[in-house]
Amino acid sequence: PSTLPLRGLNVLVTAGPTQESLDPVRYLTNHSTGKMGYAIAEAARDMGADVTLVSGPVALDAPDGVDTVRVTSAKDMFDAVSKRFGDADITVMAAAVGDFRAENVHPQKIKKHGRDTLELKLVSNPDILAWAGAHKREGVRLGDGTEEPRPQVLCGFAMETEHLVERASEKLNEKRCDMLVANNLNDRGAGFATDTNVVTVLTPGAAPEPLSIMGKGDLAGLILKRLAVIHANKLA
Ligand code: C5P
Repeated sequence: PSTLPLRGLNVLVTAGPTQESLDPVRYLTNHSTGKMGYAIAEAARDMGADVTLVSGPVALDAPDGVDTVRVTSAKDMFDAVSKRFGDADITVMAAAVGDFRAENVHPQKIKKHGRDTLELKLVSNPDILAWAGAHKREGVRLGDGTEEPRPQVLCGFAMETEHLVERASEKLNEKRCDMLVANNLNDRGAGFATDTNVVTVLTPGAAPEPLSIMGKGDLAGLILKRLAVIHANKLA
């Protein structure tokens, strides 16, 4: 029925920030609150999906009826997602994953005594969305008449402070997404701690579509309805 457009589908969502330890008491993180990702998980549940939410550290309660997996670092999030990705029909990565972690986590608290400066060497974290794009099943019909089973739909987010649409369309292609939702941190009503968002939706081969400001719950429903259509088209 049209009220439950995701019935029978597994939806995997990432949300929140990651925390990267520097020593036993300190970490690197960002301002993500998890609101957008949690809204997507709840909307997917309400549309009939079986939902798994992989969440970084946030102040939000685990949504009822959603299998919520709590992780801390980007590496933890990668492990949790890569284990579950094969089961997902639709994956939405709304987490603000830390791009870097400390090369070495100090085993003891770093002392300030006797230091005027402190150098931290950081190394790149795995890009979870790019990994998923590289492993995504397209569900194409194979030459021998058989079908590759269960197509997967992948949606990423991009938050930028400049050149939003250009950067986002690069990400759409590089990370092999079916949809990329781009928001500019500088727009009023967009970004981290707000209950609203202002986004531009990008899909391969179509003009970028700027949407007006809307609540994160309404935006979550809109994104999922479109992903359901993309998924149905891959089956057709
Ligand atoms: O490249 P950028 O970090 O802006 O890309 C944002 C998108 O990629 C988001 O969907 C985010 O969840 C995802 N991402 C990820 N793993 C990373 C970095 C970003 O899944 N290490």
